[in-house]
Amino acid sequence: MSRVAFLGLGVMGGPMAGHLAAAGHDVTVYNRTGTKALEWVARHGHRAAPTPDEAVDGAEFVMMCVGNDHDVREVASVAIPGMSDGATLVDHTTASADVARELATACAAAGLGFVDAPVSGGQAGAQNGQLTVMCGADDEQVFDAAREVITAYARECRRLGSAGAGQTTKMVNQICIAGVLQGLAEGVAFAQRAGLDVDEVVATISKGAAGSWQMENRAGTMAAGEFEFGFAVEWMRKDLAICLAEADRLGVRLPLTALVDQFYKQVIERGGLRWDTSSLVNLLQQP
Ligand SMILES: NC(=O)c1ccc[n+]([C@@H]2O[C@H](COP(=O)([O-])OP(=O)(O)OC[C@H]3O[C@@H](n4cnc5c(N)ncnc54)[C@H](OP(=O)(O)O)[C@@H]3O)[C@@H](O)[C@H]2O)c1
Repeated sequence: MSRVAFLGLGVMGGPMAGHLAAAGHDVTVYNRTGTKALEWVARHGHRAAPTPDEAVDGAEFVMMCVGNDHDVREVASVAIPGMSDGATLVDHTTASADVARELATACAAAGLGFVDAPVSGGQAGAQNGQLTVMCGADDEQVFDAAREVITAYARECRRLGSAGAGQTTKMVNQICIAGVLQGLAEGVAFAQRAGLDVDEVVATISKGAAGSWQMENRAGTMAAGEFEFGFAVEWMRKDLAICLAEADRLGVRLPLTALVDQFYKQVIERGGLRWDTSSLVNLLQQP
């Protein structure tokens, strides 16, 4: 068992840190809004620290799950100088590959290991400890040691290459999801307009070639127009902006991703900033 610090107890980070405690690690948590850290301690035990540098003091592994590139830089710039020699920073935030490479360089200069490790599986995956973790690390031994800790909340944890490769893999994940969601939204809106029962349609076609996680889990709520849950459009637009910027850098065209990103812009214009990503269907149901 290891001494672990967890920075950022949001929808994802809170339950992930809870799994570390349940697995027997010695956990210190930090959250910008301190009351959340105290609530976490009341529920899971262990201890909270008021700043990132105090939280990481003496930790062998420092896990971080905040919002975006700016947040990662802000928290890491305070955490890294406080980390012990030979410790490893694991960033679970969905951020750019550039920020991952920047952190890898900063950690190497400070004698620390670094793993970029964005996750997929949503709030439910974090709560039941079944996340998919996509990793980039320059040093395979650093990754192998970090994986022992990550296992507490992951069903799949794999190194895809050097620093930045985890974030680039997460981009692939989001590119695939964007297209599938738009296709499903069009299918659901079409079925409704044709007078079909969407539940019956899904029960029939979801086991065939059209089936997907989104179809199994989102077709019903799309048909019902329920969007007040799940993975927020605000976060998806952040992720798609990262994908589109990286595609520009690589010289790759992402026409469908760019189009879906514009549809999300329209969803936000009609008040859907915090709606689930399946709310694409709203543009078709109420044009
Ligand atoms: N939610 C999902 O389904 C999901 C799925 C996969 C990946 N992700 C990714 O995982 C990351 C976290 O998502 P989430 O849903 O857990 O977000 P969240 O609930 O909004 O939590 C964000 C956490 O980061 C902290 N934070 C943000 N900016 C900070 C800063 N500048 N300094 C210090 N702390 C800061 C927040 O502190 P406060 O409490 O003080 O605000 C909070 O603890 C994001 O990159 C997201 O894209 C989310």
